[in-house]
Amino acid sequence: MKSSFKEIFEYNEKWITDNLAADPNFFKNLSLEQKPDYLFIGCSDSRVDPDTFTGFKVGDVFVHRNVSNIVNPIDLNVTSVIQYAILNLKIKHIIVCGHYGCGGIKAAMEEKGIGKNSPWLQIIKDIYRIHKTELEKIKDESKRYDRLVELNVKEQAENVMKMDCLQPLVGTLDYPQIHGWVFDMRTGRIIDLKLNHQIESKVEHRSLFNKLKLIFKNNT
Ligand code: CO
Repeated sequence: MKSSFKEIFEYNEKWITDNLAADPNFFKNLSLEQKPDYLFIGCSDSRVDPDTFTGFKVGDVFVHRNVSNIVNPIDLNVTSVIQYAILNLKIKHIIVCGHYGCGGIKAAMEEKGIGKNSPWLQIIKDIYRIHKTELEKIKDESKRYDRLVELNVKEQAENVMKMDCLQPLVGTLDYPQIHGWVFDMRTGRIIDLKLNHQIESKVEHRSLFNKLKLIFKNNT
């Protein structure tokens, strides 16, 4: 943690010097263009910085973060990021990353209301309602909280999959792999929820459905 604002600039100068020492063309190459393979959609929580726990280097990952890593189809911010990442950057992987101990998820779980963030977090209350039977079987509150974090990641990854800009890519090699992760800051470990397979099978189903629709349309 930086103890003073001034230290940030001192660190920046050192970072420039170190990078130039390792590669004199570092900034020349960096300024040419970006070609990241990954889009990371994570929580704004200060501890969920992908650069710190993945080994991503500058230029490796296009990033969007908001409270509780929500992919709301009417949020112009996240939808613009995803559209740009897919259509312009042609990224290969989309990672939706939640984290245990997420304050937004906890607020949405509480009965007393969720204050000023209420409209934003309402979507998590809806996820709780959809999965209420499973969640309320979990008697341990902290385990139930963990499970809601995971279910939120799964639902948000599915919201990515439903986006209009992805639909024309279904069944093509340009369709990115969609991943659901939870960062467990109690251990430092990334947990891969292995959603990709489930999502791919839904995509195949959807692709088949679209083909059938087309055949039906052409025959009428
Ligand atoms: Co969070």
